[in-house]
Parts: sequence; structure tokens; C-alpha cells
Amino acid sequence: MHINPVILPALLWLYTISGITAMPIGTPDLSHCQPFSNETNCCIINSTNIVDFKLPDKPPETLRVRPAAHLVDKEYILKYANATKLMKSLPFNHPWNFIQQANVHCAYCDGIYNQSNFPNMTLEVHGSWLFFPWHRMYLHFHEKILGKLIGDENFTLPFWNWDSAEGMEIPSMYTDANSSLFDNTRWKNHKPPNILNYGFLDGRSNNNMTRQIEANLRVMYRIMVSGAKTTELFLGGPYRAGDDESSSAGSVEIEAHSYIHLWTGDDMSSFTTSARDAIFYAHHSNIDRMWELWKGLPGGKRSSYNDTDWLDSAFLFWDENLQLVRIRVRDVVDTKMLGYVYQEVPIQWLSTPPKVRDGEEMSSAFSLVELPVMLDSAVNINVELPERKMESMEEVLVVDGIEFDARVHVVFDVYVGGSGTSRKAFAGRFDHVPVKKWKKGAIGTLLVRKRLVLGLTDLVEELRLERGGRALVTLIPRSDRGVMKVKVGAISVQLST
Ligand code: C2O
Repeated sequence: MHINPVILPALLWLYTISGITAMPIGTPDLSHCQPFSNETNCCIINSTNIVDFKLPDKPPETLRVRPAAHLVDKEYILKYANATKLMKSLPFNHPWNFIQQANVHCAYCDGIYNQSNFPNMTLEVHGSWLFFPWHRMYLHFHEKILGKLIGDENFTLPFWNWDSAEGMEIPSMYTDANSSLFDNTRWKNHKPPNILNYGFLDGRSNNNMTRQIEANLRVMYRIMVSGAKTTELFLGGPYRAGDDESSSAGSVEIEAHSYIHLWTGDDMSSFTTSARDAIFYAHHSNIDRMWELWKGLPGGKRSSYNDTDWLDSAFLFWDENLQLVRIRVRDVVDTKMLGYVYQEVPIQWLSTPPKVRDGEEMSSAFSLVELPVMLDSAVNINVELPERKMESMEEVLVVDGIEFDARVHVVFDVYVGGSGTSRKAFAGRFDHVPVKKWKKGAIGTLLVRKRLVLGLTDLVEELRLERGGRALVTLIPRSDRGVMKVKVGAISVQLST
């Protein structure tokens, strides 16, 4: 059947709003790139020759092993630094050039492309179920190209093992100012021996290392185990063709992932520039590893989506044969099929659950408000805690209609407690990594709308909150960079099966 190309978008839109058939996110039209300025022109190099990515029939006999960055030897570091150096010295317009590689990341996250068939909708790979698979694809091609440049098909990227005590500082291979792996825009006061601070924005003086490490591990436990018991909580919420960006990020994306971008600074602290720092790839290698670990954890429903709108979402990347390829989410659900696994290291956070019991004392002075509200100070909100029909149901706190300017670092904490007490437990954080610029006229404004979902069951149980009764949610805005205007639309506790 031949459909008039003029009415096709309208038809697709109708399909979507009628809910009959949603559709997967399709590959962007690379000839329609909308850079925001010359300085941040991150359009992907185009080609008319696009082929489909092909998986082998079965995994290779020997799998490549991605190593922990703090455990590799000198030889590995030399090899990796050399590969990156070669990438940096390619002609600027070569698709493998390091900046062109970094641009691919910028292009898929700053509204540079619109969704194919939906000219009013930007394409964004953060904040939804696209986050894990898209970054897996991105790393796969980057790794393959690096291997090609040094003639080593078995080359693997390292992972920044920031979820273990030994890996909580910038791995040494990235700190040598003469190395291709160095980036001189990183925050100087976060150099080793400073360690990552998952919990506070001023994480400069780590005067109590042991406490800091323990606090970080407890965050890991919450975002991997107790707060990540459903597919949506961990992988992020649906985002289909024609959707705006109001989906929800998964637990690891919205917390550890954001913290580490912002803590590393300054290229790393914005999606526009983050992949210009080689450490980006090790950071995301560990993110990718978290997806692998999560699948194997006990308790909850930890399987990938089987929704075809997820599986068939497709993207374009330049591969190691200098070919522009179209790859789908279904191609990357199994790392073994892509030929790699992760080095096994001890997982300390598994035995470090957060201390929720009894919560902590909180000021009762925060005002009790109705939503929507502009979050310029800490507020309390009453919510109903529904009765569960089945033991296996997961309570999920949904904070909806979070509106703000995407160029600002927006962060707020969520605490939950019983309605008659001032004791509360930390439920999670909303942490938005800003984009540096924004293309002109994107839906007329820089406003974005997001949703936060937090797994609550363990917290409800440990705090002995009364199901069928009420709970009190406290939202505390935290900002280290001046004014942060954020509006919160609605809060509810929903049950997920
Ligand atoms: Cu695409 Cu960590 O960002």
C-alpha cells in the first residue's frame, strides 16, 4: 500500500493517541540535524548507505572480559591510551575521530534530532527504558573501533568500579595529565585521594572516608536491590514513538549515574560534552555492568521488557568497518552475544542495606502543601498508602509532572514517613544532569517534564507504615548552583505487579 508521505505523520500520530498501536522509536533522519550553535554542532556524520547490524548465531567461543579500571596492568593502560590517542589524531571529519564519537552522545540527547515521523518530538535516550540499551550500543561500537585502531579485535573497555570501596576515586589511568585519557576540565578538588560522594553535593572534603564509603554502598544497595524490584524501577519507564520525554529514569540512572557525571565535572557534568572525557566510557561500562548484575539478583521481577516497542527501538552508529549501521534494542539484550562479559569482583553493597528502621528525625516545621507546588523550600505532602491485593505487589512512589529548565542542575530528595511522626526514611533522589545549550524553538521553551518512580515496599515494611492509611512525603530541594526552579505536579503511591 502506498501512503502519501504528507499524511503519514498525521496517521502515525493518530495511531499513537488512539492507543491502538504504539510504535518503537525509529532511527533518526540524519539529514535533519538541528545544531544549537557552531560551537556545539554535534550532528552525526551522515551516509546514504545504512546496513542492519547482524548478531552472530551464537556467542563466540571465548568471551572478551571488560576489566575493572583500578585492577589493570601497565600494559593494558598503554594499549588503551594509545588507542584513544589514535582516535584523537584522526582527521576531524572521520567518523571514528574522538570528537565525532563524543558527538554521537550529544546528538542523541540534546534534541538535535527529532523522532522519525514525529517532527515535533525530540529524540532523547536518557530518562527512560532506552537508557541502558542505547549506552550499551554506544560503548560496543566505541570499543570495537578502538580495537580496530590498534589491530586488537579482543580489546575491551575498562569499567570504573565506583560501586566498590577500592574504585570510589578516579582510576589512576585517567589522572596522568600527559595521557589521552586525561581531561583537564574535571573538578580539580575531586582528584584522588578524594572519593566519590553519592550523598552530598559539597563532597569535597572526605574527612571521614569510612563513613563515606559505607554511605555510598548503602545508596548502591537501595538503587540495585530494595528500590529496584521491578523492570520499570530499574530500567526506566516506556518511551515510544510520539511520546514526549516525560517518562521516568531507572534507579541507577537517576542517582549513581547522575552523581558521578556531576562529581567528575566539567565536560562530564553535562550530556552535551560528557563523552569528550574518556572516563565517560568507563563510567558507562560500569553502568552497563549494573544491568548485568541486576538481572541476577534475587527477589523481585528482574527481567528485561518483552515489549516490542522497546525491543524494536532502533538507532544509527558508525561501526568498526566504517559502516553506518542500524541496531535495535533486541540486538543488545545479551552481552555474550556481543562477545563480552565483566571481570568478577566482590560486590560489597550486597551486604550493605540502608538503615531504614525508625528513620531519622526531621524538622516538623516544613509546611504541609497541596500539589502542584513550586519547590523552593522543603515541603510535606500527604499521600494515601493503598492496601495491597497481593503480597507480591510492589509499592511505587510516583512523583509526576516535575517541570524545570533542562539547562539547570535540578536535584531534590524524597523522604517518607508515617503521618503522625516526624521520623522519616530516605526514599531516593531526583538528580537531573543538565544540557549545556538547547536548540532554538524546541517546543517553544526549555521546559522539560519528568517523572520520578521510587520502589517503596521495603521502606513501608521497615518503617511499619500502615497500609490503607496515610503517609507523609517530604521533598527537600538541594542545589549547589544557585536558583533552581522546579515544579512538582502530583504524588501518589501506586501498586505494581
Ligand atoms: Cu548518556 Cu551518562 O550519559
